[in-house]
Amino acid sequence: GRRKMIRNTLIGSMALVPLSGVVLLRDLGPLPEDKLEHTGWEEATDAKPLQLINMNTNQPMKAEDIIQGSLTFAMPEGLHTHDEDFQQRIAKDALMLVRIAPEDIKDDKSKEKGFEGILAYSKICTHVGCPISLYEQQTHHALCPCHQSTFDLADGARVIFGPAGHPLPQLKITTDEKGFLVAHGDFDEPVGPSYWERAR
Ligand code: FES
Repeated sequence: GRRKMIRNTLIGSMALVPLSGVVLLRDLGPLPEDKLEHTGWEEATDAKPLQLINMNTNQPMKAEDIIQGSLTFAMPEGLHTHDEDFQQRIAKDALMLVRIAPEDIKDDKSKEKGFEGILAYSKICTHVGCPISLYEQQTHHALCPCHQSTFDLADGARVIFGPAGHPLPQLKITTDEKGFLVAHGDFDEPVGPSYWERAR
């Protein structure tokens, strides 16, 4: 188990290289106000859902691609690494996906937003916006490397340790007719640091 955690940690760290949440979120200005209330996922609708694209492979994912114990990073369909505004957009849009046995998911709302135990949370820490990169598969805890805030992904990503003031927002996901993971809308709440003004 320990070895798996180290492996997942390494994978997480590698996936972080192009992301630096704190710096990127600063690009939104000293007070981003409502800019964190909207992400690229808002372009997803019932009529035109957006696929979740694996950030390592650049491919859409099916539910069976998400295996228990792993941490997978995703971005919305239509976002490309060569886009001029990629860094700013990924700082808000990045997701981390985990699969947890449905019977181990403690929060009913969270279970409903997921698909067969696959949960999609914002990757941006609600303290000051570092990208979260560590996942402990036995406890389902995700850890922010900046100031060690720890979130229980099996319980709505509530904060169980550290300075973060809010759970990680969760994106509702489902699958399309071909079986690819998709979203039909944006997060229900702003992503990122909780000290910035929240309207909701
Ligand atoms: S930015 Fe995550 S704990 Fe501080």
